Amino acid sequence: ESTKVIRQNANIPSRASSVSGIGAVVEKPDYSEAKIVVAMVGLPARGKSYLSNKLMRYLRWLEYNVEVFNVGQLRRSKARAAAQSGGDKADHTAVFFNHSNEEGNKARTQLASESLEALIAWLKAEGNVGIMDATNSTFERRALIKNRLAREPKLQLLFVESLCNDPAVIATNIALKVQSGDPDYANMSREEAERDFRWRIEEYERVYQSINEPDVSFCRILNVGSQVTINRIEGYLQSRIAFYLMNLHLKPRSIYLSRHGESMYNVDGKIGGDSDLSERGWEYARALPDLVKKNIGDLPLEVWTSTLQRTIQTGSFLPFEKKTWKSLDELDAGVCDGMTYEEIEAMYPEDYEARDDDKFNYRYRGGESYRDVVVRLEPVIMELERQENILIIAHQAILRCLYAYFLALPQEELPYIKANPQIPLHTLIKITPMAYGCHEERYPLPIAAVDTHRPKPNSGHRKNSIPSGGSSVMGHGSDNLEAISRATANTARDYYGDLSSHPMTNQGSASKLGELTTSPKHGS
Ligand code: F6P
Repeated sequence: ESTKVIRQNANIPSRASSVSGIGAVVEKPDYSEAKIVVAMVGLPARGKSYLSNKLMRYLRWLEYNVEVFNVGQLRRSKARAAAQSGGDKADHTAVFFNHSNEEGNKARTQLASESLEALIAWLKAEGNVGIMDATNSTFERRALIKNRLAREPKLQLLFVESLCNDPAVIATNIALKVQSGDPDYANMSREEAERDFRWRIEEYERVYQSINEPDVSFCRILNVGSQVTINRIEGYLQSRIAFYLMNLHLKPRSIYLSRHGESMYNVDGKIGGDSDLSERGWEYARALPDLVKKNIGDLPLEVWTSTLQRTIQTGSFLPFEKKTWKSLDELDAGVCDGMTYEEIEAMYPEDYEARDDDKFNYRYRGGESYRDVVVRLEPVIMELERQENILIIAHQAILRCLYAYFLALPQEELPYIKANPQIPLHTLIKITPMAYGCHEERYPLPIAAVDTHRPKPNSGHRKNSIPSGGSSVMGHGSDNLEAISRATANTARDYYGDLSSHPMTNQGSASKLGELTTSPKHGS
């Protein structure tokens, strides 16, 4: 039997490709034909940036190349550059946004088209989805975009309008904007800034035209989650975007992630299988209800497990409604199921190495790759977006994929999750969606367990990096009982990089990223 590792192209993950006895590094699906301009529509403080960035996180998790092009950000960076080179300080108070201000109108139209041109160039070169984050609030402005794109037969256009008539949400968005150190309000008190921003909104309201052009594709969203109107949605990716946006809501909630308690296979250092919990695993299962109860109080919670015994046993003492999902079953290790990492290395050395080289893409013989897992978890993500408080009891690889979605981690990091501790046993992870990402807290229980994490091999690290069953025990001191609040989502910078390094996109600054979120109604 050949152990040669082949590279193969496959758009649709299929198990059959590797059952024959050859593990494979399966390349990314070819998305080069998918090219969509998503043009946001909406008044200021209506959650356009929130939706833009959430959509970007989802599509990136599915491996589409997505960028947000924020016109306001372009305006601010140009104003900054002009001021730095000794030019006049631009007046970007509400007067600039008055629609009878001809100079202002001209400048804003010019900025919008400059941003759109950059977006188009990027889409043509490499992108899949370019999100134009701007108000695009009149028929005239949208006609400009539509006519420009009529000259680009390979690019589709989808408008996404965010309407919001909930005063509490709008007030929160305004507060977020003025508290965020926005350069537009650099030399103003908070009160002045708020007054000016509200005035700016009024200027837009005077001329605002909600989208209803019958000949364009659009998705019109009222109060995220309460009503969605769709028009002329075309093709697979547009439908997927529309479906995702339809499933979002802003109610405050948390998602809890826990691996099953330590299993007998964990103790033996074996992967996969359907073994029972170890004694320490049962201890964790018995302790979990108290930990969860302390956290969630009387709020409703649903528990999702995989169909494997170790997750069902872990959830068995929890007094909440439970659902089992096949999609939450651990990554299928195919012919390696039930083996230790040492046995895999000895029996399938080339596969072993290929997996170390490219763990995300490597598909076990007769089993799955991390990419396959992401694909099968997509319905879980969709359902998670629809639901409120959920506790997921699942497995190492599965939770890495879910965690990567909420924390917007890149694919290459996903199979390892660099954060320390990674996704350890006997730890409850609480993820709370916020304005610009997610806030994370960890609650490790002081119940020892083996460490099943195998770090990414580098610089000769590989040979001695195999955790062997039972030998590497993670003890949790009682001081660990306190939640480790990692506050991973306190700044959007953590998720989207530094804006200043990419002047045309809106991915870096916490202050600019989102508008709609931590309202009383909204709680990753
Ligand atoms: O070791 C526990 C386990 O859940 C195995 O069942 C699974 O194959 C493995 O973790 C996934 O982790 P990795 O992708 O790092 O091998």
